[in-house]
Amino acid sequence: MIDTDTIDIQKIKESKVKSMDFANLEFGKTFSDHMFIMEYKDGKWQEARILPYQNLSMSPSASVIHYGQSAFEGMKAFKNKDGRFGLFRPDKNIARMNKSAVRLCMPEVPEDLFMEALTRLVQMDNSWIPTEELSSLYIRPVLFAVDDFIGVRASETYRFLIFTSPVNAYYTKPVRVKIERHFTRAAKGGTGYAKAAGNYAGSLYPAKLANQEGYDQLLWTDSKEHKYIEESGTMNVMFVVDGKLLTPELGDTILDGVTRDSVIQLAKDWGIEVEERRIEVEEILTAMKEDRLEEAFGCGTAATIAHIATIADGDRVYELPAVEDRKLSNKLSKYFVDLKKFRVEDEHNWMIELN
Ligand code: COI
Repeated sequence: MIDTDTIDIQKIKESKVKSMDFANLEFGKTFSDHMFIMEYKDGKWQEARILPYQNLSMSPSASVIHYGQSAFEGMKAFKNKDGRFGLFRPDKNIARMNKSAVRLCMPEVPEDLFMEALTRLVQMDNSWIPTEELSSLYIRPVLFAVDDFIGVRASETYRFLIFTSPVNAYYTKPVRVKIERHFTRAAKGGTGYAKAAGNYAGSLYPAKLANQEGYDQLLWTDSKEHKYIEESGTMNVMFVVDGKLLTPELGDTILDGVTRDSVIQLAKDWGIEVEERRIEVEEILTAMKEDRLEEAFGCGTAATIAHIATIADGDRVYELPAVEDRKLSNKLSKYFVDLKKFRVEDEHNWMIELN
């Protein structure tokens, strides 16, 4: 394993932060001054360094381009108006990145080195963490294969990067979702639980068709019968029916979301009954028809808590209750902002302060 004191640091000559308008950010389009990068070769991680954010160079035959050996993470740093800043549950993202790495036959990133890289990078670029209520610094770690070889086998060399991007909310209004009963995101035994780049590639065409019909996202169903709800394009999904919080149980096909896990914990803390189990589309449709569906929302790092405005099944479009009346999701949204801005007691030690 690499010695964490061996991260070489090369600072940008002049920061670009002065030209930033943090009030008008478009998700994923602006990148902060620096990035972390290291190489895996000869069976070990090496050449850990922080450099000015820049283009990469790789061979046209790099395996990632051909066979998609690549996984990423999404996490965030937050800062309040007093200048306190930190990461939300980075240990969960580090662990999930390594789970994805194992599934895609890539080397794991040593946890302490991962954390050291995150800490140094976010500290160096902390002037890029917006302090506005719903803003944050989105952090994108990514691990991919770089052998210049086009035979099909696991690569022997890899690159691991972390770069960051100041962001506002991913969804600026409640989302309209469509139940997907033909295409499949993930199947048992597949890579659905991993944050594999290819999972997202396969979802784009069905999502584009849904966009053309006026929907923001799909609600994926199981690959075998298209009968059970799984997750949405960029987030896990939750429903409040008869006062209970329902969410699809984890398994091969569902991403183990950090926000999902946090929502479940908070709901339990607040005395709400939580059921993690298989959820039939029919159960949700029936609850909607009988006015028993109180809330539906997506949750994810980028999406945070995203109210679902309508759910469509074929030609039927169901309007959900007014957003103002949604007690749990509104309480969760407020709690998460308060926690991330250090305004409430952090009972679960979820925030890792970096000042
Ligand atoms: C995240 O929530 O961090 C995601 O990875 C979702 C999306 C932006 C790909």
